[in-house]
Amino acid sequence: MVQIFAHRGFSGYYPENTMLAFQKVAEETVADGIELDIQLTKDGEIVIMHDEMLDRTTNGSGWLKDHTLEELKMLSVGVNVKGFFPRQTIPTLREYFTWLKTTKLITNIELKTSYFEYEGIEEKLIAMVKEFGLEDQIWYSSFNHYTVARIKKLMPEAKCGLLTDTWLMNIGEYAASQGAASVNARTYFCAKEGVAADLHAHNIALQAWTPNDAEMMQELVDAGVDVLITNYPDIAAKVLGR
Ligand code: G3P
Ligand code: MG
Repeated sequence: MVQIFAHRGFSGYYPENTMLAFQKVAEETVADGIELDIQLTKDGEIVIMHDEMLDRTTNGSGWLKDHTLEELKMLSVGVNVKGFFPRQTIPTLREYFTWLKTTKLITNIELKTSYFEYEGIEEKLIAMVKEFGLEDQIWYSSFNHYTVARIKKLMPEAKCGLLTDTWLMNIGEYAASQGAASVNARTYFCAKEGVAADLHAHNIALQAWTPNDAEMMQELVDAGVDVLITNYPDIAAKVLGR
């Protein structure tokens, strides 16, 4: 059965990576899970945000990593989104986990360690997952495969996805060599003939990001993907007849 993950929460209609967008996944969709992005503040707290810079989604500016949690909490998130929403702030992962415990949703945590490696983020993340007892509800992913290797070392049973935004050869063999549970790739690569079959032959799943229209979702389902990571879990549900 193909699973639906809400990309940055229900970001098609609500400000991405906010508690509002996460809560709306549970309230308004039949999604199986949520994808979100994490980074570290200047004082070492894990927060949920996609961009390394504050400028696009908040009323702040500069690098997120150069601000303390207290400074970041004074900012409003969603300044790039039209509509009237209750004011949102950058969520801490701790806030998110407190809420997640009240749901059955899976969460694919993307560690944003491509620009800055955020030394120690993997240890902090795994410690917090264990503290909350969320081992069965959390998956991990990163474009930085060294990050994925560090997660696997800390928690060998962790379900890890190797993110890629390019055309790779021998992907099944490579992913298997890293102990990955999935490859999380752009739609064009997921739809390419032979990619899903290659991964499935190695017992590895294929997660596609970010199909946002029904036609593309159907093409990916036909190609054999296992997970649709989309801004519109409502459209995905219709495509899958759920
Ligand atoms: O994890 C899938 C997807 O979120 C990767 O790209 O830039 O949206 O974080 P991005
Ligand atoms: Mg992401």
